[in-house]
Amino acid sequence: MARSNLAVAARRTSIAAPDSERLLTWYDRYRRELPWRAPPGATPDPYRVWLSEIMLQQTRTETVVRYYARFLVRFPNVRRLARAKLSDVLKAWAGLGYYARGRNLHACARAIVERHGGRFPDNEEALRALPGIGAYTAAAVAAIAFGRKAAPVDGNIERVIARRYAVETPLPAAKPELKRLTEILAPDHRAGDFAQAMMDLGATICTPKRPSCSLCPWNDRCEAYRRGAQETFPLRTPKVEGALRRGAAFVALRADGTILLRARPPRGLLGAMTEVPTTEWSADFNRRGGLTSAPKLPTKPLKWRRLPGRVRHVFTHFPLELDVYAARVPKGTRAPKGARFAKLSTLAGEALPSLMRKVVAHAMRLETKPNKAV
Ligand code: ADE
Repeated sequence: MARSNLAVAARRTSIAAPDSERLLTWYDRYRRELPWRAPPGATPDPYRVWLSEIMLQQTRTETVVRYYARFLVRFPNVRRLARAKLSDVLKAWAGLGYYARGRNLHACARAIVERHGGRFPDNEEALRALPGIGAYTAAAVAAIAFGRKAAPVDGNIERVIARRYAVETPLPAAKPELKRLTEILAPDHRAGDFAQAMMDLGATICTPKRPSCSLCPWNDRCEAYRRGAQETFPLRTPKVEGALRRGAAFVALRADGTILLRARPPRGLLGAMTEVPTTEWSADFNRRGGLTSAPKLPTKPLKWRRLPGRVRHVFTHFPLELDVYAARVPKGTRAPKGARFAKLSTLAGEALPSLMRKVVAHAMRLETKPNKAV
């Protein structure tokens, strides 16, 4: 199957009006206006392109649009970002999720200044050698910022291609075949526009559910459409979900309008971000024993109340459910070692990941309501 798809693609690109030209014409008319896109004919700024690509990894476009301009005001170029403190970068990143990206962003800016004199390398190989830049991002930056003939292939583009050629191999095994097919389609010119046109086609027309095939510039060449089977593609091998983990979070509110926070360990999940104290998160968490890990505060008596409901969050590899306990402590209560009291009014400026924002919001919503004390 793989070989015949490639043969069809190769034949088509050599004899018919190239698919790429049709797509580029469509893009010239319908491209999305996005803040990181250079206007037609303008030279893109590699820093802005790179920043957008890192932010767009695993994050919705609408979310990135909300953060992007603000981040640029704070860190307008690679040198300013490289000079910044990691904690300030993580603060500006808070809310975008996947915080390893924030740390790598900072490390990458430093590497560009130290290894490349502050100029982005202009080819895929050198870009890939930088922190946080994988195959997709290297290809996207090479194509968009430097016009290199490179084929970034993300989930949207995989879907477009899998449908276009009705690729029968299920994902993830189909990835190399989908990449090859995309490379065959890519033209020798306007590499960045072609890459972004593919992204736009996947995001606006060739959507996972109910694609708008009647508006697609390739609808007369799409095998899935011809078969009336658009939503069947891409085929997927069913994946095993990570097991549910559970734990408890502890929201200690001091009478002067502060909340107990601590830093997470520097490496690993949400590394170096800020959190309210929690237990370990594990599949066999014992709900009755949760309180034994509550922070040791010098208030007597210290009453932790378990709040109704739970906070749920889904990480890439596992879903998580946290019980939330709350306690009120008097003014002047000292934080235990490794923790600190921070003002609730300045929480927006803390490097609190989305999960922790949900925990605090849950506690603030419910803490005042009566519930059994434990
Ligand atoms: N997703 C990833 N990169 C993108 C880009 N440059 N434009 C739109 N969506 C994207």
